Amino acid sequence: MKNQKCNPKETAGECAAGFVEDGMVVGLGTGSTTAYAIKELGRRVADGLDILGVATSFQSSFLAVENGITLTTLDEHPEIDIGIDGADQIAGFTAIKGGGAAHTREKIVALSSKKFVVVVDESKCSDILSHPVPLEVLPFALKLAIRQVAELGGKAELRMGVRKDGPVISDNGNFILDADFGRIDDPGSLDTKLSQCCGIVEHGIFTGVDAVYIGKGDGSVEIRENSF
Ligand code: 5RP
Repeated sequence: MKNQKCNPKETAGECAAGFVEDGMVVGLGTGSTTAYAIKELGRRVADGLDILGVATSFQSSFLAVENGITLTTLDEHPEIDIGIDGADQIAGFTAIKGGGAAHTREKIVALSSKKFVVVVDESKCSDILSHPVPLEVLPFALKLAIRQVAELGGKAELRMGVRKDGPVISDNGNFILDADFGRIDDPGSLDTKLSQCCGIVEHGIFTGVDAVYIGKGDGSVEIRENSF
């Protein structure tokens, strides 16, 4: 019989949602792959699953409410049982995130999670990271941030809005730079250096991902667990 469901983002997202258990606090990432996880969680909530969600963006917050998921805050629940989120590129257990300009809150949620799961389709997997690194930048520090990126060997471009004149403004009121470093041989070192830059609120390199769920074109999902 032909597999009717072979949208790899959908199968990866739904698969991760299937591991959520009663009583859990769940980190709800941002993006199209995570949206499938949120919708699946909503279906499970309608069937009686009892969870609380912590949203990483207006997008995930609206989607959670639409799908009947009760939201909480990190103030009320500082420890999240499982965080589910997408990625723009992943190599091993290090991801580049921020395609949706939500990586600051996403990283806060990831670091608050006992288990942080990345859901992707195969096209996001690579041996070496090379995707431009999204940077959330204080508007006041824009030019300084661009200069610091250049000093690290990168080229930063201000992300512009679509159906909005001028730059993208993050959910936190900041600008987004996409910093192209070419091939990133040592993401751990770049993580440290970007974290030390003044005016860069947060960058999109996520090291130490706990598990990666990869949706494949044939309808299967490969699960890679990080044993550290
Ligand atoms: C948002 C993100 C997203 O998770 C990332 O851009 C992947 O998005 P998608 O699942 O739509 O491909 O980091 O800031």
